Amino acid sequence: MKKIKIINVVGARPNFVKIAPLLREQKKHREAIEPILLHTGQHYDYIMSQKIFGDLELPKPDVYLNVGSGTHAEQTAKVMVPFEKYLVESKPDLVLVVGDVNSTLACSITASKLHIPIAHIEAGLRSFDRTMPEEVNRVVTDQLSDYLFVTEPSAIENLLNEGKPKGAINFAGNVMIDSLIGAIGKSQDSILDKFGLTPGSYAAVTLHRASNVDNKETLIGIIDALLKISESIKVIFPIHPRTDNNLRKFGLEQLIRSKPDNLIISGPVGYLDFIALQRDAKMVLTDSGGIQEESCFMKIPCLTLRPNTERPITIDCGSNRLVGIEPIDIIKSAMEILVNPPMDISTPKYWDGKASARIIDEILWLFGVQSKAEEMPLINSRR
Ligand code: UD1
Repeated sequence: MKKIKIINVVGARPNFVKIAPLLREQKKHREAIEPILLHTGQHYDYIMSQKIFGDLELPKPDVYLNVGSGTHAEQTAKVMVPFEKYLVESKPDLVLVVGDVNSTLACSITASKLHIPIAHIEAGLRSFDRTMPEEVNRVVTDQLSDYLFVTEPSAIENLLNEGKPKGAINFAGNVMIDSLIGAIGKSQDSILDKFGLTPGSYAAVTLHRASNVDNKETLIGIIDALLKISESIKVIFPIHPRTDNNLRKFGLEQLIRSKPDNLIISGPVGYLDFIALQRDAKMVLTDSGGIQEESCFMKIPCLTLRPNTERPITIDCGSNRLVGIEPIDIIKSAMEILVNPPMDISTPKYWDGKASARIIDEILWLFGVQSKAEEMPLINSRR
């Protein structure tokens, strides 16, 4: 029997977390699937890439494109050129892309023009904000994808509204939560000791969205809010390279480095360490998409420093609140959580650690390798 050759694309940090359980699942079907792990090299720092690969027990990539940073067009083009060459040589049966980063977009466009089927994991999420580069990446990737695996009901509605056929959509659940469930047990407390933190007594912060950190005034406002919050609770802030670069570029290093002891800053931390930091936090303040989901699953209150979210289920479940970027709103919301934290946080449907298994079963079925699993949460035409 000819194996299904699947190219699994990763580029940036959140991709690694999503691909790890999918790759593990593919390897359980060695007789039917030949999985190939391709890293574009969009994220290349040790902590942003290799350390997180290790934390997730991901193998060394089979293919590494080494594209690095650049403008959006540069980065996208730098992925497309070698990826096209690789696809022509390797002739896969399926390209599997995850999330919404530039590598996701670049590989989808390339595969589509070579008529290679595309599966998009985490399809259909929409912020309805086209100023976000990730929103453009999501919309285009979904339009080009043949198989759309979604994490929450809003995504089904969005895809149907954009004219995607019902039969292409599969409500499989959230692969990021598959990784998280594996990681919670492995996460060590030593990162808390390292920063002198005790469970429930600090806020964890991440910040990297271009709209928040590429504008000097916005960044100053958010840092001011964090300094104010740190007067009431310790704040741990592992700084993303983009944010770090901008703090330097804008001459704001002093503002943050002359911090009081309650604002603890560090470089980016590994995956297991950040899961431990989230798990034991009193609250999380973030502009990341994935952290809105992880905090929801761990029932940790999350303040999202954005005006919108493409993951509305996290609001419906009671963990997430959109606070925008006005310092006064950020401070007020953080103080409210200190006094009156949300008590009733529920878990979204199919965020149960089995999403990758559902997706790979479905792919095996789509390629005619196995019959339909009994209990599959499909909305597609086979129902
Ligand atoms: C990218 C994704 C974003 C995702 C985030 C997770 C896009 C459009 N954005 O944003 O959706 O949430 O990754 O981290 O794809 N840099 C380093 N070392 C690295 C990687 C980047 O120093 O390993 C620096 C470079 O100066 C680079 C900047 O960070 O120019 C931004 O990196 P880039 O990959 O363009 O976007 P992110 O902000 O990381």
